[in-house]
Amino acid sequence: MDKLRIHGGRPLNGSIAVSGAKNAALPLLAATLLAPGTHTLRNVPDLRDTRTMLKLLQIMGAAWERDGGTVRVDSSRLTGAEAPYDLVKTMRASVLVLGPLLARAGQARVSLPGGCAIGARPIDYHLKGFEALGVVTEMAGGYVEARVQGELRGGTICFDIPSVTATENVLMAAARAKGKTVIQNAAKEPEVGNLIDMLEAMGVRIEGKDSDCLTVTGAAELRPAEISIIPDRIEAGTYLIAAGAAGGSLEVTNCDPSHLTALIEKLRAAGMQIETQADRCTAFCPVNSEGQPCPLRAVNITTMPYPGFPTDLQAQFMALMSRSSGVSIIHETIFENRFMHVAELRRLGAEIAIDGGSAVVTGIPHERLVGAPVMATDLRASASLVVAGLAASGTTEISRIYHLERGYERMAEKLRKVGAAIEQVPED
Ligand code: EPZ
Repeated sequence: MDKLRIHGGRPLNGSIAVSGAKNAALPLLAATLLAPGTHTLRNVPDLRDTRTMLKLLQIMGAAWERDGGTVRVDSSRLTGAEAPYDLVKTMRASVLVLGPLLARAGQARVSLPGGCAIGARPIDYHLKGFEALGVVTEMAGGYVEARVQGELRGGTICFDIPSVTATENVLMAAARAKGKTVIQNAAKEPEVGNLIDMLEAMGVRIEGKDSDCLTVTGAAELRPAEISIIPDRIEAGTYLIAAGAAGGSLEVTNCDPSHLTALIEKLRAAGMQIETQADRCTAFCPVNSEGQPCPLRAVNITTMPYPGFPTDLQAQFMALMSRSSGVSIIHETIFENRFMHVAELRRLGAEIAIDGGSAVVTGIPHERLVGAPVMATDLRASASLVVAGLAASGTTEISRIYHLERGYERMAEKLRKVGAAIEQVPED
């Protein structure tokens, strides 16, 4: 296993290009199971998680090839409808094959994903949605066994919580259901919109895109799609936050600023200057003659479903607030255990107290953030440790960076290009 070694205290200056969105690539790759033929997906990031999803498709009989950022998936021949535990336990999003398999093959056997570092992560909403479409589900031996009773037929589903992957799973099952399906309290994340664009390219009619009520008219036959993955708003947001942590002038290209409104408002409230154009954002955080970044104001955040502040940027924003000049309250409402990064940030000198679903961050001058060995516990926690390591003086070493590699394409390389002293080295 490798670790990241960061010599902090250097400003970031230059331009970083954002990759395709992990959380769009995963459902869209799963959707290739819906229609036989060769699907073409552009701007697909090369990540641990997308490689896992491609391995899963291959286990089921699909063939795929990658040509740079373009991935072609031929799902003409499906030889299986099972997602095994040893793959699902490494990536919860494997459950996204349930919907397309039910639509295509009328049955599916998928391992229950189990919990993960940030929470229990149940899939009850997914199963409730399928049952409304005429699917019978049961649990056996840690697996979900799902089967269409008769034929998939349209139904009405109302989610308790606007679950992102539950919305995506039900959309894919409804794509081939007879009649109309209405999904109320649907997730409105841009990644759901990207999936809707792909399903429409396959011949499905969907009304209500970007709203919380979707109406799907299923189609008996679907055709292969050609679609581009949208830019990764969480990767883009991570780099904008990193610019505030380290100081400097950082242009983040190939992103969609309209997907980052909540974060941009909070960075401006903290005192950063953020300029936006159609496909890029530029973050300015002046540094003084000693190269030290300007002080930041403490800002409170509450994570919410889109378009609210994204839970996937909470850990990174907490690292930024560690060097603010005040007290910031960070309230996490989406996941019950998404503060695993707090103990590690404290090792770098951050002053953070946890009170239930809130963290109270007492900012300290950045020079009192001092590098140390820390351990990544989950994908976004590892990103927050990189942000803190860039701000801290001295050397920070981050172990277990396979977490980071799940969702960030070539992060060390991208940061080195804009002046960070960061390298990937073998664990001792
Ligand atoms: C998606 O996860 C993302 N993953 C997550 O990104 C993201 O944090 C999350 O949405 C929220 O935005 C992908 O898109 C692959 P949810 P998902 O269902 O769909 C509860 C990252 O770092 N819930 O919207 O699994 C759930 O426990 C990852 O890139 C149920 O109770 O999240 C949570 O408390 C992390 N039952 C809440 O709903 C269900 O059946 C929202 O979860 C489903 C969810």
